[in-house]
Amino acid sequence: METMHAVGFRRYGPAEVLEALELPIPAVGANMVRIRVAAAGVNPADWRLRNGQFRFVMRLALPFVPGSDIAGVVDAIGPQVTRFQPGDAVYAMLPTITGGGYAAFVAVTEQHVAHAPQSIALGDAAGVPLAGLTALQALRDRAQLQLGQRLLVYGASGGVGSFAVQIAKALGAHVTAATSGRNLDLVRELGADAVLDYTQHSVAEAQEPYDIVFDTVNTLSFRRMLAALGPNGVFVSVNPFIEKLSPAWLARFRQGKRLKSLLVQPSGSDLAALSGWIDAGQLRPLIDQRYPLAEAAAAHRHSATGRARGKLVLVVDQQLAGLNGQPAITAWLSQKAFSH
Ligand SMILES: NC(=O)c1ccc[n+]([C@@H]2O[C@H](COP(=O)([O-])OP(=O)(O)OC[C@H]3O[C@@H](n4cnc5c(N)ncnc54)[C@H](OP(=O)(O)O)[C@@H]3O)[C@@H](O)[C@H]2O)c1
Repeated sequence: METMHAVGFRRYGPAEVLEALELPIPAVGANMVRIRVAAAGVNPADWRLRNGQFRFVMRLALPFVPGSDIAGVVDAIGPQVTRFQPGDAVYAMLPTITGGGYAAFVAVTEQHVAHAPQSIALGDAAGVPLAGLTALQALRDRAQLQLGQRLLVYGASGGVGSFAVQIAKALGAHVTAATSGRNLDLVRELGADAVLDYTQHSVAEAQEPYDIVFDTVNTLSFRRMLAALGPNGVFVSVNPFIEKLSPAWLARFRQGKRLKSLLVQPSGSDLAALSGWIDAGQLRPLIDQRYPLAEAAAAHRHSATGRARGKLVLVVDQQLAGLNGQPAITAWLSQKAFSH
């Protein structure tokens, strides 16, 4: 049996439980695409799964290989696959419960895969799927963002927030980006029309009401934000349970304002839409730092600080990742071709 290298954990615990694993190369199911991984994105869910936070609601098969985001090259396809060929550059979001991205190969259902953007390296494309899909599905589907609407993105410098600012601009919104003071310039670079330092000003006191508030951090309260929302305003939260948990009595105070939860879904067609924006120069992953796969524990510690600016990426195959030693955020900021 052919094996591959991967990084995962055999027991729940701190970052140190991550270890190098040698695992069988995944088989290719009939409707599956096997991908040789260039790089894998890191998301907060990865270290939350590792530290056992979800163990009572999600039963993981141990050893577990985290990783919902991958970019790479198609290595093999199942007989029912129609849209991809070996050698295609692709990216995908893997379901969080299955993970598997911190590995040399993954096998993914064709529906979850899209051709990777052509204008960026695979090493950077790996930062797109989960956070990019979260932002897209929150704004387009949950909030139904319309041209010209006023949007507040809370946590605008994070993985989800940095995509939300850019996607909202691409959809024609007026975007206010809330972040801590050190990231104000960064979110301006992302295209925000207005910026707000949440350490100095209350985000609940809007000069002009917002049509949509997108809380990408899960610390705002819908009740507290009601005053900042205009008529029929929508509050969207990354907390997937908040809509169900919201107390019924709150409806009396809502004045038609709505609370929406989001649980991101893998989607090859949505990823293709993100590729389109990226190749049109309207969207770019903001990569804070890249780590070799062997340093996944350091990347988890970084993500768990809550201070990442954009995405963290694990480079699995240096050559395929195609990054040519360019620095992460600095390279992003110097992209003069990138304009809004
Ligand atoms: N429901 C879903 O389907 C779904 C999908 C994706 C993500 N999520 C969840 O969404 C959250 C964000 O994910 P992410 O990938 O964007 O995380 P992330 O990249 O780690 O977010 C980091 C950002 O959060 C900001 N931040 C941290 N604490 C803050 C606070 N108290 N107030 C305001 N901003 C704060 C930081 O900005 P400053 O340093 O400037 O404060 C930093 O830029 C996570 O909890 C994740 O699990 C849920």
